[in-house]
Amino acid sequence: MAQEANIGVVGLAVMGSNLARNLASREGNKVAVYNRTFARTELLATEHPEAGFIAALTIDDFVASLAKPRTAIIMVQAGAGTDAVIAELAERFEPGDIIVDGGNALFTDTIRREKDVRAKGIHFVGAGISGGEEGALKGPSIMPGGTAESYATLGPILASIAAVAEGEPCVTHVGTDGAGHFVKMIHNGIEYADMQLIAEAYDLLRNVGGFSPAEIAGIFEQWNTGELESYLIEITAEVLKQIDAATGKPLVDVILDEAGSKGTGVWTVQTSLNLGVPVSGIAEAVFARSLSSQRAQRDAANGLPAETFAFDVPDKAAFVEEVRLALYASKIVAYAQGFDAIRAGAAEYNWDINLGAVAKIWRGGCIIRAQFLNRIAEAYGKNSGLLSLLLDGYFTDAVTRSLGAWRRIVAGASLAGIPVPAFASSLSYYDGLRAPRLPAAVVQGQRDFFGAHTYKRIDMPGVFHTLWSGDRTEIETTPSSH
Ligand code: 6PG
Repeated sequence: MAQEANIGVVGLAVMGSNLARNLASREGNKVAVYNRTFARTELLATEHPEAGFIAALTIDDFVASLAKPRTAIIMVQAGAGTDAVIAELAERFEPGDIIVDGGNALFTDTIRREKDVRAKGIHFVGAGISGGEEGALKGPSIMPGGTAESYATLGPILASIAAVAEGEPCVTHVGTDGAGHFVKMIHNGIEYADMQLIAEAYDLLRNVGGFSPAEIAGIFEQWNTGELESYLIEITAEVLKQIDAATGKPLVDVILDEAGSKGTGVWTVQTSLNLGVPVSGIAEAVFARSLSSQRAQRDAANGLPAETFAFDVPDKAAFVEEVRLALYASKIVAYAQGFDAIRAGAAEYNWDINLGAVAKIWRGGCIIRAQFLNRIAEAYGKNSGLLSLLLDGYFTDAVTRSLGAWRRIVAGASLAGIPVPAFASSLSYYDGLRAPRLPAAVVQGQRDFFGAHTYKRIDMPGVFHTLWSGDRTEIETTPSSH
């Protein structure tokens, strides 16, 4: 087989097929495709003759069809399947060739795989790809890791298929080894928070404001013309407009209220916990999905007392605006926390990640694409060492003008017994971050009391332990493993 394809795709389920079609549709690309069952490869090639695919029957044919340096993108379900395909390719590839994993792999797996494959002189690139099925076909946001050398070959190919935002392709070399998958994981964590916040806004509009799903769809369409403009707001309006053909009811009312997940949100929270980064909004979003799926407990707890208080809404339009402001402020917190996690991950794993560039490639193609990513890009563009997004002037102003509404909405929801875990935790995070003094001093005292874990003082250097049951004098100690 002639070595004529400049790129190959392995794994032809919907995402793989769509990515292969996207690649084939761009000038200069010749695409080889391979799937474990040939029937699927054949079907794709026959259904899309315009793509001019090289349909490989075997993995050997596939490898033989690739021009050097051979470049193949693996689009199989994350996990053991990925390892198997990597092994098959690595056996046949030569030094300088490039294996790309375009699935949602856990970044630590990517770090391990990169190390293994590098030992053979082959490049391994973990690339986060966001945008779902349609994004894969028409233009996703792409977050590749791996070596700068591999990016020299891969970059132009990925740029040819990526979404374009403000004239720039939504792809950048994020960093080495697992950096791309790390950033994709955080993208998904923010996605979880954003979705949960929108769902909480819906709940308030429905159960306090008394609006119907169709009316809320209209409100979201309105919001989508302003600073909340985003893909998730847009599709939520579509979801709320949908009428169930079988019952004639709003579809949202017949969908079982148990949210699923594939695990990337959990990874974000686990990783952030290990890094010591409080991604509380993202965590609440993950927990909210878990709670929704605890069917037996929910059924058993359904009749527990509520003792609620009325949440008066004398002016519906003003209420809608307050919900919007609370949503916007909470969303800023979710992004601030997500970017903090990226910064901490970069420090821990020695990645040189440009946060402004990450914000830019999220402006188009991906699930969290939103107008205000331009503002985030500007914030990091002005100050790459920004300690928190909340400290950038634009976001400080945005939160400042939302604060009153944010507090009234969280307090009102609490009085009315409506769960708003993401709204409330975001507000608490903000209050915690800005507080000059936290009750952590009490926690330190408790730790020293029961475990002699020591504490530091505000007025003198050193490490101290109090003889709590004795004469209460403090003694300076050397730092210990406490
Ligand atoms: C994307 C999505 C994509 C996928 C998530 C959904 O960026 O295109 O995030 O990766 O839809 O895996 O995750 P859950 O099933 O966990 O909601």
